[in-house]
Amino acid sequence: SGPETVSPTGQETGTDQGGVAQGGAYLTTAQGARLYETDHSLKAGPRGPVLLQDHHLREKITHFDHERIPERVVHARGAAAHGVFESYGTATRITRAAFLAEGARTPVFVRFSTVLGSRGSADTVRDTRGFATKFYTDEGVFDLVGNNIPVFFIQDAIKFPDVIHAGKPHPDREIPQAQSAHDTFWDFVTLHTEATFHTLWNMSDRGIPRSYRMMEGFGVHTFRLVAADGSTTLVKFHWKPQLGVHSLVWEEAQLAAGIDPDFHRRDLADAIESGAHPQWELGVQTFPDTEDQLFQGIDLLDPTKIVPEEIAPVQPVGLLTLNANPSNYFAETEQVAFHVGNLVPGIDVTNDALMQGRLFSYVDTQITRLGGPNFPQLPINRTHAPVNDMLRDGMHQTAVHRGVAPYRPNSLDGGCPFLAGADAGGYIEAPVPVPESRKVRDAAASFDDHFSQPRLFWRSMTSPEREHITAAYTFELGKCYEQAIKERGLQVLANIDGELCAAVAAGLGLPAPAPQVPLADPEPSPALSQLGRTWPLD
Ligand code: HEM
Repeated sequence: SGPETVSPTGQETGTDQGGVAQGGAYLTTAQGARLYETDHSLKAGPRGPVLLQDHHLREKITHFDHERIPERVVHARGAAAHGVFESYGTATRITRAAFLAEGARTPVFVRFSTVLGSRGSADTVRDTRGFATKFYTDEGVFDLVGNNIPVFFIQDAIKFPDVIHAGKPHPDREIPQAQSAHDTFWDFVTLHTEATFHTLWNMSDRGIPRSYRMMEGFGVHTFRLVAADGSTTLVKFHWKPQLGVHSLVWEEAQLAAGIDPDFHRRDLADAIESGAHPQWELGVQTFPDTEDQLFQGIDLLDPTKIVPEEIAPVQPVGLLTLNANPSNYFAETEQVAFHVGNLVPGIDVTNDALMQGRLFSYVDTQITRLGGPNFPQLPINRTHAPVNDMLRDGMHQTAVHRGVAPYRPNSLDGGCPFLAGADAGGYIEAPVPVPESRKVRDAAASFDDHFSQPRLFWRSMTSPEREHITAAYTFELGKCYEQAIKERGLQVLANIDGELCAAVAAGLGLPAPAPQVPLADPEPSPALSQLGRTWPLD
């Protein structure tokens, strides 16, 4: 037979694979030798020095010394759960993905997170929340690595180190946590105004969710779905919580952070344990895959823009239910490794420059975080589809590979007859044309408008929501030490809306600047019937 991967621990995920720790009747060393004592070191006499030959002492302490792994460089704090995704079959016309076929049931693991805090930080801070889902499909793992906010701070992944360096604790004082109380975040987002819309979402009630169970989730980028006949459709993914979207008010968030910093983690675990299994509908906004990749003038490759649901309704494609808590935080929630590039046939990426950088970053960081390239073999990351790759060896290799010819072509292992053609379910990248161009670092002119959508958002808010946003900006900008940053923050607000700017300026005791861009009312949404470009699933 050809090269083949044999995993000693089977294919299941969860915690029941292979060597169950603490399962035996008596304690042993890591090598299985039975112990008679673990409370005292081996010494030269009861009051004498400890002997170097005490293997058990050295093993116990050495292993303990290496218990910690690096936390995630972002999204370090999280909580997760197992569940199932049941497909309605409504997307079969636009994608060949088997897990979206009618009636398909797929096991999933979902990890929610904050972005900026460290592993031990509080849950209810004002921040974006991660919403990452691993679908263990029959065709391989599909990861939908999204957030609870539909836009991002930057349009190009090359700015990711900048935005995260600005948002993480001050390098000199290590004063932590989200956007509060440090100048670097506000310095960056007021200089780099493509961050305006994401920041406005953060300052709204969406920045302090009531519960992970009551958050929306968004794939943010535009994806390309590929149907069985090869036709393609552009989509944006949305998760809609069955419990509705609810937030805390600022005072509640502060109290919860003090009284119960694990507020969201506890809420999720308690709900699942008590049988109140949270559910979300997965839906897609669909757009024709035109050459310009614009929809109603909105650049679908710009991740700082939404497509309003009034002009492209979210169409449900399946239901997610979280029904089981992890049984070991480290093995599951900490070791899970999501990656935007984990795709299955029928789902492809687009030219979004933020998405493209993510395709590189996740595996790269996980090689450091999880100690080498073999983390897909960890139980929580293991695909439920058969694996037959030609990857070999490496740190923490646990597979025992058979065969002698992990290369192609070969004549020793039967010539590797394992390539599936496209018709037999192999993953093919959609053969979309790449625009003929020259090498440039410039962004498209359609990426230049940073204020119209924030204005649309602000004007869609009710008056209590506006009060919360105003109070949030006043509090956060008020915490900056540098006067120039506060003033630049007001300038950004002036470019969104005069009323918002004036209210925050009054709170800060500063003059409200004049806008630098025309404050035109956002274009009224054309009636659905006039669009002529909607793309209904049915
Ligand atoms: C982690 C979402 C942009 C690099 C994460 C996680 C989520 C997420 C949800 C946590 C996954 C988990 O629970 O384990 C997003 C979204 C983005 C975005 C929605 C924009 C739309 C980026 C970009 C980069 C990046 C542009 C880099 C160029 C990372 C890294 C991690 C991470 C390095 C840590 C992964 C790990 O250690 O396993 N992201 N992210 N992200 N993200 Fe992103």
